Amino acid sequence: MSNERGNWGSSVGFVLAAAGSAIGLGNLWKFPYLAGKNGGGAFVIVYLSLVVILGFSLMLGEMAIGRRGKSDAYGSYNNIKKGWGFVGMMGILCCFVIYSYYVVIAGWIVKYIGLFLSGGLNGDPVDYFSTFISSGTTPIVYSIIMVVATALIVLKGVSGGIEKASKIMMPTLFIFMLVIVVRSVTLPNAMDGIKYFLKPDFSLITPKVIIAALGQVFFSLSLGMGAMITYGSYLSPETKLVKSAFCIPVLDTIIALLAGLAILPAVFSFGLEPTAGPGLIFITLPKVFSAMPFGNVFGVIFFVLVLFAALTSTISLLEVVVSFVVDQFKLDRKKATVLVSALIALLVIPNSNSFGSMAELKVFFGMNFFDFLCYLTDNILLPAGGLLLCVFVGFVWDKEDLKNEVTNHGEVKFEMFSLWIVGVKYLGIQLLSLILLQAVGVQDEFLVYALGTIFAVQILCGRLEAKRGVKAV
Ligand code: PFF
Repeated sequence: MSNERGNWGSSVGFVLAAAGSAIGLGNLWKFPYLAGKNGGGAFVIVYLSLVVILGFSLMLGEMAIGRRGKSDAYGSYNNIKKGWGFVGMMGILCCFVIYSYYVVIAGWIVKYIGLFLSGGLNGDPVDYFSTFISSGTTPIVYSIIMVVATALIVLKGVSGGIEKASKIMMPTLFIFMLVIVVRSVTLPNAMDGIKYFLKPDFSLITPKVIIAALGQVFFSLSLGMGAMITYGSYLSPETKLVKSAFCIPVLDTIIALLAGLAILPAVFSFGLEPTAGPGLIFITLPKVFSAMPFGNVFGVIFFVLVLFAALTSTISLLEVVVSFVVDQFKLDRKKATVLVSALIALLVIPNSNSFGSMAELKVFFGMNFFDFLCYLTDNILLPAGGLLLCVFVGFVWDKEDLKNEVTNHGEVKFEMFSLWIVGVKYLGIQLLSLILLQAVGVQDEFLVYALGTIFAVQILCGRLEAKRGVKAV
C-alpha cells in the first residue's frame, strides 16, 4: 500500500521537499517587511520564540499524523480517529484555495525573469507592473505556465518528481540567495537597511504584532493545512521525526532572515522605502536592480530564486489535493493531477482578473475574488485548521499510540514528550484561539473572557482525561 502511494527516497530528500513547501513567498515578501515594521530584532525574537514553541511542535504533530495515518490529510486523521477527517478536509480545501491565488503571483515571477533576461526595465516600474497585472490574458497565460510546470513535477510522483525537483531547486535557491545577500550588504549605506531589519525596538511589540508573528509562523511553515501531514505520510517508519521536525523550521527561518538581508539593505541603499507584498518584489526591487551595475544579472538571479521558492511551495499545495483524490477516489496520480490542475486553471481566471477587469467587483462580502480567498484562508481556514490540529494532538489522539509514533516505538529518545503535549494542549490551543477569535472580529475587550472560558474547558477536559486514566505519559 505505502509503495503504491509513493515514498521518499531519503530523509534528506524529505527534509528538502518539506523545507521547499515551507520556504516560499511568505519568507521573501512578507517576513522582511513585517520584521522591519514591527520592531526589527525584537520582532525576530518574538518570531523565533513562536517558531520554537509552536512551529516545531505542530510540525512534529502533523508529520506524526501523516506517518501514522498513512494516507492523505483527510484519510490520515480518519485512520487515527474516526470522524476527525473533516479537519484534514478543511486543510485540503485551504491548500486548493491558496494554490489558486498563489499561482497567480508565481506567474508574475516568470514574467519578470523574462523581463530581466531581455534587458531589464525601461520606464516606470509602477506603470509597468500595474499595466501587466491588469492586462487580462497575458498574466493568466503566465500563471497557467506555473500550473503546468507544477503538474509536470507532481505527475512524476513523490520521489521521482517532488523529491528530485526539490534536491535541485533548494540548494540552488540557497546559493542564489547568498549571492544576493553579499551584493546587497556590500552596497553603500547597506547598514541603514540592516538596522531597519534587525535593530530591536521592544516598544513596538504589541499584542497585535504577536498575533501577526503567529500568523506568519503558520503560513511560513505551511502548517494547519495538511501539507506536512501529506508529506509525512510518505515517510518510512525509520525516519526520526523529531529531528526532521526540527530541521524544517530552522531552514525556513534561515531563509527568512537571509531574505531580509538580501532585500532591505539594497532597498535602503537606493533611498527607497520598503513595503509588504507585491510592491516590494515587483516595484521596489526592479527599481533597485535597474539602478545597480549589472542589475539585470542580479535581477535574473533574484527572480529565479523567488521562482524556485514559489514552485516548491506550489508543488506541495497541489500534492495535498492530488494525494486526497488518489487515496479517496482511487484515481491514478496522472489523472488526479490533470483533473486538479484543470480546476485550478479555471480558478486562475477570476483570481488574475481581480487585478484587472474584476478589481472593483466587490461582491464577495465586500471584497473582490482574490482578496476574499486570501481572507478566507488566512483568517478562517488556517487558524481553524491549526486549532483543531492542537485539539487532536493534545486531547483526541491516544497518548500511548502518539508516543510510539513519535519515538519509533521507543527507539528514538524524546525526553520532552510530556512537555510537548502540554504545550500543544494548553499554550497551542490558547494561542490559536486568540488568532481565530481576533480574525473573526471578536472585540479586544471580549477576548480575555473568551480565552478564559476556553481555558476552563481545557482544564475540565484535562481532568476528565485524568479520570479516565489517561496518563500525561
Ligand atoms: N509556506 C509557504 C510560504 O511561506 O510562502 C506557503 C505555503 C505553501 C503554505 C504550501 C501552505 C502550503 F501547503
